[in-house]
Amino acid sequence: MKTKLAIKKIFVFALLVTTNSVLWAQEQPKGKFSLPPLPYEANALAPVISETTIKLHHGKHLKAYIDNLNKLIVGTPFENSDLETIVKNSTGAIFNNAAQALNHIIYFNTFSPKANQLPSGALLKAIEKEWGSFDNFKKEFTSAATSLFGSGWVWLAKDKNGKLYILSESNAGNPITKGYTPLLGIDVWEHAYYLDYQNRRPEHIEKLWTIIDWDTVGARYK
Ligand SMILES: [Fe+2]
Repeated sequence: MKTKLAIKKIFVFALLVTTNSVLWAQEQPKGKFSLPPLPYEANALAPVISETTIKLHHGKHLKAYIDNLNKLIVGTPFENSDLETIVKNSTGAIFNNAAQALNHIIYFNTFSPKANQLPSGALLKAIEKEWGSFDNFKKEFTSAATSLFGSGWVWLAKDKNGKLYILSESNAGNPITKGYTPLLGIDVWEHAYYLDYQNRRPEHIEKLWTIIDWDTVGARYK
């Protein structure tokens, strides 16, 4: 019994470590992708993001990217690849759907109903090294997210030396295609905010700061 309990504990620990440090491609089985569940209730982020928006964004938009990807990779070299490999090596419709699947998995796992957290530890030090203070970083990131023209993503990403960058990507762009590790990704496609904020993207971005789970973002930095 003790052995069984120990194995169970190791499994749970491994799962937690994987979930905290990765939170994207490796959680998905190779070759046949499925819609990962939200890490919170659909109404948990309201009023910053409404239940209606979460349900549409996760249950319709992300699901469509995953379903499309599953159809598109049949009979291609990506049929048994993991999601990250597909994003790094594909083009066209396969890239668009794979990258949007990956981007949204990162995105939905970035938020938490625990409001008003702030970064800490190594991530905070790296932010302060690059931008002087968290407030300065927040201003720069907000400016990038509000000014990105059209649909796309704004990322906080790190290079292999741990240096941080704010990267604006149009459409389905993800920093892993350029050798960076994504830590925080904000979706500025209109489907992410239009039902709740109409054309007021700056207001939406400003409110998002209160639901970012900095424990998760910090774990991705390690
Ligand atoms: Fe989206």
